[in-house]
Amino acid sequence: MSDRKIIAVVGATGAQGGGLVRAIVADKGGQFVARAVTRNTSSDKAKALAAMGVEVVAGDADDEKSMEKAFRGAYGVFCVTNFWEHTSPDREIAQATAMAKAAKAAGVQHAIWSTLEDSRRFIPLSDDRMPTLGGKWKVPHFDAKGVADQAFRDAGVPTTFLLTSFYGDNLIHFGMGPRKGEDGTLGFVLPMGDRKLPGMAAGDIGPAAYAIFKAGKKFIGKTVGIAGEHLTGAEMAAQLSKALGQEVRHLAVPPSVYRTFGFPGADDLGNMFQFNHDFAEEFQDARNLEFSRGLYPSMQTFSEWLAQNKQKIPLG
Ligand SMILES: NC(=O)c1ccc[n+]([C@@H]2O[C@H](COP(=O)([O-])OP(=O)(O)OC[C@H]3O[C@@H](n4cnc5c(N)ncnc54)[C@H](OP(=O)(O)O)[C@@H]3O)[C@@H](O)[C@H]2O)c1
Repeated sequence: MSDRKIIAVVGATGAQGGGLVRAIVADKGGQFVARAVTRNTSSDKAKALAAMGVEVVAGDADDEKSMEKAFRGAYGVFCVTNFWEHTSPDREIAQATAMAKAAKAAGVQHAIWSTLEDSRRFIPLSDDRMPTLGGKWKVPHFDAKGVADQAFRDAGVPTTFLLTSFYGDNLIHFGMGPRKGEDGTLGFVLPMGDRKLPGMAAGDIGPAAYAIFKAGKKFIGKTVGIAGEHLTGAEMAAQLSKALGQEVRHLAVPPSVYRTFGFPGADDLGNMFQFNHDFAEEFQDARNLEFSRGLYPSMQTFSEWLAQNKQKIPLG
C-alpha cells in the first residue's frame, strides 16, 4: 500500500480540478496521489481519469454525506463549485458549506477553496451605480463564493482561499470570443474601458493549487490570488489580431450596455466587469504575477495561451 497522501479533487472532470489531477499525476515521484470526485463515475471524463490510473469516487456537493465519504482518508481536498450550472448564489453557498463541513468531518488537514471576492465589500447594496440582483447581490457568482469563505472558517478546516482570474478559455467555451461586425471586422467585447483585467489559462489553476498543497502549512488560513497576466481589452485585442492573423478591435462597451445583452447571466457579468473596472487596482493587487509564477513558473501569458488554443476560438 502506498504511503502517499491523498488529495481529493472536486471538479476533477472540469477545468480547475482537472488541471490539479493532471499536475498530481505528472509528479510521478511526489508525495501525493489524486482522488477524483464526480457525481457520475461512469461519464466519459470520469472513465478517462480512471484510465490514467486515478481513483474515481462518487460525491455530490448537494449531498454533504456523499462528500464526507468521498473525502475520508484524504490529507487534502480541492473544493470548487460550478455556479453556471444552476446560477443560484444560495445553492452555491450551500454546496460550499456542505464541502467545508464534510472536510471537517473527514479530518482533512488542508482544504483549498476556489473562491472570488464578495463584491459587496467594495460596493454596498445601497450603491445604485450598479443594480442589485436577486434582492441581495451585486455580482452573484463572486459574492456567493466570498460568503462561502466563512463556511470554511466556521467549520474549522485548515483552508487556503484561492482567488482565480478570468479564463482565456472564456473565448472558447463562454461565448466571449471575437465576433464579426457589420463591416466584417472582428470585435472583442470587454467592458473594462482602458483598465487591466487579470487573466489566466483555466488549466493553470490546478498546478498552482498543487504548489499550495506541496507548500505544507505555509498558505493555510491565507487568501492567495493567481493570474497569468494583467491586460487591457486593447492589449488582448492586439494579441488576438496577431495570433489570428486578422484585425480584432477591442469594443469597450459600458457595463450598463453589456447588462442588456439579454443572454442568461448578462446582468451578473455586466456587474462583474463594472466591479473589475472600478476596483481594478485592488483586483490586480490581489492577483500578483510574481507570486503566481513563484507558485507555478509555467503560468501562461495570454499570447502563450493563444498559441496553443487559437484554432479552438469560434469566430462568430
Ligand atoms: N470562467 C471564468 O473566467 C472563471 C474564472 C474564475 C472562476 N470561475 C468559476 O469556476 C467555476 C467552475 O469551475 P470550472 O471552470 O472548473 O468548471 P467546469 O470545467 O465547467 O467543470 C465543473 C466541474 O464541477 C463539478 N461539479 C459541478 N457540480 C457539482 C456537484 N454538485 N458536486 C460535485 N461536483 C460538481 C463537475 O463534476 P461532475 O459533473 O463530474 O460531477 C465538473 O468537474 C465557476 O463557479 C466559476 O464561477 C470561472
